[in-house]
Amino acid sequence: MQTKYMKVGLSELNRLTEPAEAIKRGELVAFPTETVYGLGANALDGAAVLSIFSAKGRPGDNPLIVHIAEPAMLKPLVSGINSAVQKLIKAFWPGPLTIILEKSDAVPDETTAGLATVAVRMPDHPIALELIKRSGVPIAAPSANRSGRPSPTLAEHVAEDMDGRISWIIDGGACRVGVESTVLDMTDEIPLILRPGGITQEMIERVVGGVCLDKSLVIGEMIDKPRSPGMKYTHYAPQAEVIVVSGEYQKVVQWVNQSALADQEFGIKPVILTATEHIGRYPSKASIAYGSINHPEEAAANIFRLFRECDRLGAGKIYVEAIPKEGIGLAVMNRIEKAAGGKIVQVD
Ligand code: TXA
Ligand code: MG
Repeated sequence: MQTKYMKVGLSELNRLTEPAEAIKRGELVAFPTETVYGLGANALDGAAVLSIFSAKGRPGDNPLIVHIAEPAMLKPLVSGINSAVQKLIKAFWPGPLTIILEKSDAVPDETTAGLATVAVRMPDHPIALELIKRSGVPIAAPSANRSGRPSPTLAEHVAEDMDGRISWIIDGGACRVGVESTVLDMTDEIPLILRPGGITQEMIERVVGGVCLDKSLVIGEMIDKPRSPGMKYTHYAPQAEVIVVSGEYQKVVQWVNQSALADQEFGIKPVILTATEHIGRYPSKASIAYGSINHPEEAAANIFRLFRECDRLGAGKIYVEAIPKEGIGLAVMNRIEKAAGGKIVQVD
């Protein structure tokens, strides 16, 4: 398949008619959102949705998020919308909050991987919103990476993983947030965060009161039956081994430098992903800053791109300095720890 490519400026959104026609025909279109690039298909067309799974190599038991262009598009997809959900929509849509509700019969089993619930969000990106409007249907879209690879935050990343496998790549530049949306289960009495993202627990609590974090996020390890099927897979991983290093920063620096030296002696190329504040403490050829320790949104915007960059540099091992799990820092650390597949070193 020849993948068509379109770079769209915000003043030329009418050019999205052609990819929107492709969505209507049941084809796959990659598009930018404020979080990461999505790989979209008509969410109401089971056959189209199945082709997302084959293009990504995605396990069939991992449900998709349905993207809508306005809150009014939610009603036909779900069995009901209570007042807490209405408050969340008012506070956070458009934006990086995915809400899980009981699904209606309009949503095919292919989209929800057989679950009785559906995940829905309204992205905060003019290209995504316009594509959905012009398609006239809700768009099911996982992140537009091959399964297990880091999520794409640039159209080039989508091309790396998907060229020749999908109809269209729409290039809208870099994604602002850089980590995927918060996934919030609203099917029980107490709202439950299944995946941390740009909308934090504190932000949600201010709107609807008590919110819990899924236990897989609290104990930080894989559990047998996660509520969110996607959370059980090793995710976001670059080709190299990833090691998260946490603790008092002087000791982190010392431990990482020693380990990196040992790697080099064994002919392994180390790359160190560090806070901007600490970059001078590492060999300049081996280290890249992900952003300020005091501004976790910078690490969020950069981390997936840097994982791909490490692959390009031929890294054999990637050491990542941990950041505090506060605000969006929790989402960043969740993605880094998943990439590390449990290899977390506590140095003090
Ligand atoms: O920011 C995002 O959410 C991006 C952009 C493209 O919108 N999309 C994204 O999709 O990250 P994906 O497929 O990579 O992640 C969706 C997550 C998975 O962990 C999946 O298991 C979970 O949402 N999920 C979807 N539907 C669910 C449901 N009904 N119940 C529980 N978890 C669900
Ligand atoms: Mg994904």
